[in-house]
Amino acid sequence: MIEKLEEIKLKALDEVEKCNDEASINNAKSKYLGKKSEFSEIMSSMGKLSSDEKREVGAKSNEVRTIVTEAFSNRLKTIKDLELNKKLENDKIDLTLPSKKRKRGTKHPLTLVREEIEDLFISMGYDVVDGPEVDSDSNCFEMLNLPKGHPARDAQDSFYITQEMLLRTHTSTMQVRSMLANVDKKPFKIICPGKTYRRDDDDATHSHQFSQIEGLVVGRDISLSDLKGTLLLLARKMLGNDRDIRFRASYFPFTEPSYEVDVSCFNCNKKGCPMCKGTGWIEILGCGIVHPNVLENCGFDHNKYQGFAFGIGIERVAMLKYGITDIRNFYTNDYRFLNNFDRKEM
Ligand code: DAH
Repeated sequence: MIEKLEEIKLKALDEVEKCNDEASINNAKSKYLGKKSEFSEIMSSMGKLSSDEKREVGAKSNEVRTIVTEAFSNRLKTIKDLELNKKLENDKIDLTLPSKKRKRGTKHPLTLVREEIEDLFISMGYDVVDGPEVDSDSNCFEMLNLPKGHPARDAQDSFYITQEMLLRTHTSTMQVRSMLANVDKKPFKIICPGKTYRRDDDDATHSHQFSQIEGLVVGRDISLSDLKGTLLLLARKMLGNDRDIRFRASYFPFTEPSYEVDVSCFNCNKKGCPMCKGTGWIEILGCGIVHPNVLENCGFDHNKYQGFAFGIGIERVAMLKYGITDIRNFYTNDYRFLNNFDRKEM
């Protein structure tokens, strides 16, 4: 029996080396130590032995079981290690490979235009200020020389929230707020970008919500030529270096004189085309010299101080600049539209 056990051990150890996966190890294990194995047979026949023989065979069988079991589990560990190494080898990450390009979000075209205009005015020493979209009738109209019942109020049909409060119809409210905030009555230059609201029916060129940039300079010896020079720079920065501007007399209650400013058509360069409706010029903004009543309403002595102001529609500039024909595109968040602007890849 002792020899038999020794033989089982040697055979098992020999076979262990040939096993290359977990399944073959399990098979070999049951072949040599399982219920139907020779080893089990020897175990079950031990009852017939004398107690001396039992001790001897028992010790040998324990030795064989321990050695063989250990050999199997060592082999299994080796196989698992080999498998893991192979897997790691195959899954190796090459850190030097270029990464996949991922699309990044873009700035909205209205943001692009606003930031471009802000950059220009910041470079000329203007402060960029912010103000509330809900403002008083007083700041929106009254202080701007538009008393109740003034016919020009009709052109700016408004969303009133209470009798006195409304969604601002223009950023000109910020003219009043900036002058009132300027307690020292020192010269100042501001622009104010922001949202504005009017009771318009939405169509390709009208929106009940849109955005403007208001500009205001108050100081000594401010004249129309300062305004002209400033707006010429603005037109050229936004619509190309070859642009000219022209002033057309107009009417706004808060400026005197008032003008509408046209820029030479960048499509045909004044020759006349469908874009400028054959005139060679495209209207871009309203402006003027701050009305003495407005200066006085806001505490500035109009004999000492003058100012110029302008208001420009951001959508209008963006539509011209990017050739957009429907203003509603700015607000519907259509990815196919937004995808056209400033898309960068990482
Ligand atoms: N607030 C005017 C509008 O929304 C635009 C405007 C015209 C603003 C003349 C001005 C200005 O500052 O001087 O139609």
